Amino acid sequence: MNEERLHVFEELAAGRRSIRRYQERPVPPALIRRLLAVAGRAPSAHNRQPWRWAVVTGEARRHLAEAMAADFRRDLLADGLPPEEVAARVERSLARIAGAPVLVLACMTMCEMDTYPDARRQACERLMAAQSVALACQNLLLAAHAAGLGACWLCAPLFCPETVRRALRLPPDWEPQALITLGWPADEGRERARKAVEEVTLWRS
Ligand SMILES: Cc1cc2nc3c(=O)[nH]c(=O)nc-3n(C[C@H](O)[C@H](O)[C@H](O)COP(=O)(O)O)c2cc1C
Repeated sequence: MNEERLHVFEELAAGRRSIRRYQERPVPPALIRRLLAVAGRAPSAHNRQPWRWAVVTGEARRHLAEAMAADFRRDLLADGLPPEEVAARVERSLARIAGAPVLVLACMTMCEMDTYPDARRQACERLMAAQSVALACQNLLLAAHAAGLGACWLCAPLFCPETVRRALRLPPDWEPQALITLGWPADEGRERARKAVEEVTLWRS
C-alpha cells in the first residue's frame, strides 16, 4: 500500500472545486494539450477512446455562447418562465461561457464502438461510450486542478447538440456531451458537501 501516493491523490481529489470565475490571464496551448493527454489516459470501453475534444478560444467562444443562448432562451420561454427571468438566466449563461478563457467541448463518437442488431445492447454500448468520455473529463478536471487551473463542467451542450455542432463545424459523428470551462481561478470556489461513504454504500460478503 502506497500511503504517500494515496495521500497526494486524496488531497488532489478533495481540493478540487468547480471554478466559475476566471482571471483574464491566458492559458498556454501547450498546457491545454498536456491536460488533454492526461484526459486520454482514462480507461475506456474496449479501449476505443470515444472522446473527442474541441478547444474553443478567442472569438469562437462568443459565437458558440450566443448560438447556445438562443436555444436556451427558446426552451425557457417554452417553459413559460417570465421574460425578465429568462433574460437574466440567458445572460448569466452567456457570460459564463463567453467569459471563460478556454472552453473544452467534450464529445463522444460511436464510430469505433461495437454495433448490435438490437436496441437494448446498442443502448448499452452508447452508455459505455458516454461513461468513457465522462472518465476522461474527470481526468481533465483533476489534471487542471493539479496544474493550478480552475475548471467547471457545464451540461448545456447536451441540450442543444445540433446548435453546438453547427457553431463549431464539428464532424458529423461528434456528439457534444459537456462543455468544460478552464482558466486561472479568480476565486477559490465553494466547498460543496459530500455524502458519507456509509450513506451510499452497501457491503456484502
Ligand atoms: C454531469 C455534470 C453536469 C454539471 N452541469 C453543470 C452546469 O451545467 N453548470 C454548473 O455550474 N455546474 C455544473 N456541474 C458542476 C456541479 O454543479 C458540481 O460538480 C457539484 O455541485 C459539486 O461541486 P464541486 O465540483 O465544486 O465539488 C456539473 C457537474 C457534472 C458532473
